[in-house]
Amino acid sequence: MTQEFTALLIEQQDKKTFTRRYVTRTLSDLPDGDVVIKVSYSSLNYKDALSATGNPGVSRNFPHTPGIDAAGIVESSQSERFKAGDAVLVTGYDLGMNTPGGFGGKIRVPAEWIVPLPEGLSAREAMTIGTAGFTAAMSVQALQDAGIKPDDGEILVTGATGGVGSVAVALLSQAGYSVVAVTGKADKHDFLTSLGASKVIERNVLLENNSRPMLKETWAGCVDCVGGDYLAAAIKSTCYGGAVTCCGLTASAELPINVFPFILRGVSLLGIDSVQCPMTPRLKVWGKLAGEWKLNCLDTLTEEIPLDAVDRYIDKILQGQVSGRVLVRVTD
Ligand SMILES: NC(=O)c1ccc[n+]([C@@H]2O[C@H](COP(=O)([O-])OP(=O)(O)OC[C@H]3O[C@@H](n4cnc5c(N)ncnc54)[C@H](OP(=O)(O)O)[C@@H]3O)[C@@H](O)[C@H]2O)c1
Repeated sequence: MTQEFTALLIEQQDKKTFTRRYVTRTLSDLPDGDVVIKVSYSSLNYKDALSATGNPGVSRNFPHTPGIDAAGIVESSQSERFKAGDAVLVTGYDLGMNTPGGFGGKIRVPAEWIVPLPEGLSAREAMTIGTAGFTAAMSVQALQDAGIKPDDGEILVTGATGGVGSVAVALLSQAGYSVVAVTGKADKHDFLTSLGASKVIERNVLLENNSRPMLKETWAGCVDCVGGDYLAAAIKSTCYGGAVTCCGLTASAELPINVFPFILRGVSLLGIDSVQCPMTPRLKVWGKLAGEWKLNCLDTLTEEIPLDAVDRYIDKILQGQVSGRVLVRVTD
């Protein structure tokens, strides 16, 4: 068993400058933990790019290896729950934030963070889904738990070409919902239609008349990935008794809105957190992604890259040039 592996390392040069290079690491570079996992696949999320560029809300300790997602095989374990050879995945918790993450050939993590790879899902498929897809699935689960059914009307998805948005479009459409996708990318309408969107609208259309306190009742529900004015517009145009999920802030962390949609239309705002999601709902959602919700269009929404291309793709995702999911092949 070789101790050495390749990892992307982010180093802090001064207060604002962070550089990236690929280095050879050994197990002694990893923190204490119960389980060593040989990582076969990871994926690129927006948060990884924030970590790689020194966003203090994500990562504070450098040098650091990002990668909030990892799937692979247990190499050694001090936990009774796992043994060498088990197929597993890890998303969220502190992985890739201040704990070396999936952009390295091995990780060492507490057993409590680990999900056994569900039957019906390969490591590659699990990482095509990754944190973004898991968050999309949590959002769909939240809408269903709020009682939103396909017959209730259209579901709006903002940031639709992004990692969370694209999987949300696909999951909702496969579950029988009529999905309206909002995007800022004029050339990606066909992509969104191929994932199952019944209609695609431009971002600025959603913001029409957005200075009003309430907008025409239009959506039965919404999966919002971007926050700010878009989330406000989505809430203001959700029908009586509808629900809106909130998971992201690519547009803004602000929510410029008053209470009217909540107190006059009974609209619910549902917060989504994939990071600290407890193990019981975590296993339930992964089980659905491997079973009744298994996506038949994963390849359509995925680009696969080797570990040595992650450096370049970090810039691309920050510039909004990535559509769908980016799967990272870490080791063979
Ligand atoms: N709460 C959680 O547990 C959790 C988990 C995963 C992700 N997140 C958060 O969710 C958000 C989306 O993550 P992601 O991985 O899907 O990111 P992503 O792949 O970068 O997608 C974000 C999408 O947002 C849209 N967008 C970008 N800049 C925008 C702007 N200025 N105004 C309006 N729309 C904009 C773009 O879609 P269009 O071009 O199609 O409009 C972009 O593709 C991020 O903020 C991420 O940190 C949270």
